Amino acid sequence: MRRLALILLPCAVAVLLHFWFARRPSSALVDNNTLSDEPLPFYEVLVGVLSARHHYQLRQAIRKTWQGNIRGHPHLQHRVGVKFVVGKYGCPIPEEDREDPYSCFLLNFTQPVMERDVEMEIVTVSDPSTLAPSDVSSIALDFKVLHPVVITRLGMFSSRNQPELQSNVTVKLFQLEQEEAVVTARFSSINMGTLVNWVWYKPVEQFILPKGFEGSLIWESLDSAVLTTINSSSVELNNGGGVLKFSSIAEGILPHRSARGFPGLAGGFTFTIYDGEGLSELLKGRPARMEHHASRLRQEDSSLQEENLRHDDMVFVDVVDTYRNVPTKLLQFYKWSVGNTDFNLLLKTDDDCYIDVDSVLMKIDHKGLKRRNFWWGNFRQSWAVDRIGKWQELEYASPAYPAFACGSGYVVSHDVVQWLASNSEKLKAYQGEDVSMGIWMAAVGPQKYQDSGWLCEKECYVDMLSSPQHTAQELHTLWDRRRRCGDACECPENL
Ligand SMILES: *[C@@H]1O[C@H](CO)[C@@H](O)[C@H](O)[C@H]1NC(C)=O
Ligand SMILES: *[C@@H]1O[C@H](CO)[C@@H](O)[C@H](O)[C@H]1NC(C)=O
Ligand SMILES: *[C@@H]1O[C@H](CO)[C@@H](O)[C@H](O)[C@H]1NC(C)=O
Ligand SMILES: *[C@@H]1O[C@H](CO)[C@@H](O)[C@H](O)[C@H]1NC(C)=O
Repeated sequence: MRRLALILLPCAVAVLLHFWFARRPSSALVDNNTLSDEPLPFYEVLVGVLSARHHYQLRQAIRKTWQGNIRGHPHLQHRVGVKFVVGKYGCPIPEEDREDPYSCFLLNFTQPVMERDVEMEIVTVSDPSTLAPSDVSSIALDFKVLHPVVITRLGMFSSRNQPELQSNVTVKLFQLEQEEAVVTARFSSINMGTLVNWVWYKPVEQFILPKGFEGSLIWESLDSAVLTTINSSSVELNNGGGVLKFSSIAEGILPHRSARGFPGLAGGFTFTIYDGEGLSELLKGRPARMEHHASRLRQEDSSLQEENLRHDDMVFVDVVDTYRNVPTKLLQFYKWSVGNTDFNLLLKTDDDCYIDVDSVLMKIDHKGLKRRNFWWGNFRQSWAVDRIGKWQELEYASPAYPAFACGSGYVVSHDVVQWLASNSEKLKAYQGEDVSMGIWMAAVGPQKYQDSGWLCEKECYVDMLSSPQHTAQELHTLWDRRRRCGDACECPENL
């Protein structure tokens, strides 16, 4: 899991400050430019640098180093064009008020019960006819904690017609991807616990589940006919006014690969809200925070506009600039690139990456890399799919991703970009733009040209084509050395 984090980290466009951007004429250009008589600007290599809105320092470092060199160079400026790809909108929600730092969802608390120690049940059965025996022996409910809670009791549904348990049932609370249960309750015919609203409950050791905790509640029995489930269309789960977020339990849902049971409900749990005062403080401070945030967003909008007026090297794509939207951002850029420029090859990189443009061009010339249906990069094969955290992937059900190129730098031919652009509305965005690209490309089957010169990690080699995860200062240092002695990694002392 961590392994994956390491590779995906290259040039990760970091989580964003949030601001809202006034509509710019650029979106209309996509459709209108193709109709106009003016020829599109042509580049042998069009470079798209994915950049977060607030990464001004990194963009400046690139402008003063490898990009600046191209723009000032009599030949290079006609061969290579560089565009920074930035989301048109910042997230209008302040970070504290979001569900998580990677997306832009409001922590939507409606009427949380904030008094200390008020115990809530996630499910109350009012009509026992909605209960039915299950045909599976393991049922799971996934949920996420949006404000800290304490789980006090675990429960299982009572059977409608057989009061005695025929076989033992265990109810376990797991943290997603962890082997050990956090708490467990065991039910047997000699020890059933207490019955409340058709649910047998047993108290459990009380832990505070923090914000961001992703859990799975599992009901298990050796005998498949022992668990009782509820008709999912006739139950509404109590999320404590928004402190819990339950995954869907609709009938017929396929469990994801690492799930331990069938999605559904075979009981419930009771919980209390931890730190209710903190929650009311958060809600009280929200209006002022929203206002402050909106004004910061307006400032950011205008400085981004100014920045582009000054440099004319930015493309504002129609997305809210958050980490989870980076794959969509990439597709939007592909769409922009085929509508607004003409090129042979497209090089994708990130704003914390050093690119040795000379070496890239030299390799293209020497190896004749102007092919069709072509993808040139440093490929990761058989990387495990992550189910939690920043790289959480619940949509792609296989254990491993198809081959994908490290995001610090890869090159694709125009026809492939054209295909991605034409299908951009239909392609599903997975987590991470580089694995998404791998999944989309698995459908196209381009010729893959493996080249370890596109570094996946922050390293340095004299013959590297790209290197990720640098600060603005490091980009300057690499560039200065490259200029001085031809080696970005080190120069002899006298040079
Ligand atoms: C082209 O631009 C004009 C304004 O210049 C706009 O009214 C029109 O909707 C645009 N067409 C498309 C297809 O975007
Ligand atoms: C917040 O939740 C309520 C009730 O669930 C819903 O009606 C409302 O649309 C939600 N608001 C937002 C901004 O998600
Ligand atoms: C069920 O639980 C009871 C009490 O905990 C235990 O004595 C019994 O052996 C268990 N039965 C099975 C089949 O595990
Ligand atoms: C579940 O409830 C819905 C609506 O209340 C009903 O139409 C459906 O037939 C029920 N399903 C079962 C299996 O009882």
